[in-house]
Amino acid sequence: MQLTTLAQNFIAASPLISPLAIDATCGNGNDTIFLARLVGDDGHVYAFDTQAIAIQASQQYLITENFSRRASLHQISHTDILSVLPEFCMGNIGACMFNLGYLPGSDQLWTTQTLSTLGALEICSELLCIGGKMSVLCYPGHTTGAEETKAVVKWFKSLNSKRFGCAKPARSQNPKSPILLCLTRL
Ligand SMILES: C[S@@+](CC[C@H](N)C(=O)[O-])C[C@H]1O[C@@H](n2cnc3c(N)ncnc32)[C@H](O)[C@@H]1O
Repeated sequence: MQLTTLAQNFIAASPLISPLAIDATCGNGNDTIFLARLVGDDGHVYAFDTQAIAIQASQQYLITENFSRRASLHQISHTDILSVLPEFCMGNIGACMFNLGYLPGSDQLWTTQTLSTLGALEICSELLCIGGKMSVLCYPGHTTGAEETKAVVKWFKSLNSKRFGCAKPARSQNPKSPILLCLTRL
């Protein structure tokens, strides 16, 4: 099974504690649509990407699926999430997804970067409600991604086990294969 599907299965395994969600790297909008479906009519997805083409693709996908009212798209870095997130979201996010790396078919220069990723992970993990879930999909198969994956796995392992339940990372034997990290706010 693809790790993108495993990430979605982890998020959907139990009903969301809060119908507020974050897609920290919306790309073509696959996770945004998945989350929009999950949060329902009364919920909302806050989606982020630094690239205009990603925002446009996600916008189009939301229109096609008739979910435009369930999500807002922001062309800003996930490190700046707090500048647009409404006050009522603080500590009340039921699900957050990071799919790191670069948009397939687009310029690899737009790939996520270690320092901003770590900053955003720190912020988003603190935004989760008790029982809120976060998935982080890392791609060590390219140079920037290898360094980023190492730092993200280190961050994941350093989390306080009284505050976060961390699942065993999902990965194959190949060191260049993607890794999925899943956590739950306790
Ligand atoms: C692997 S793609 C995401 C794929 C997406 N989840 C989907 O379903 O299509 C990674 C995305 O992260 C975006 N990105 C890179 N740096 C970012 C940042 N600092 N903040 C938000 N998004 C960023 C890239 O532009 C790219 O679209």
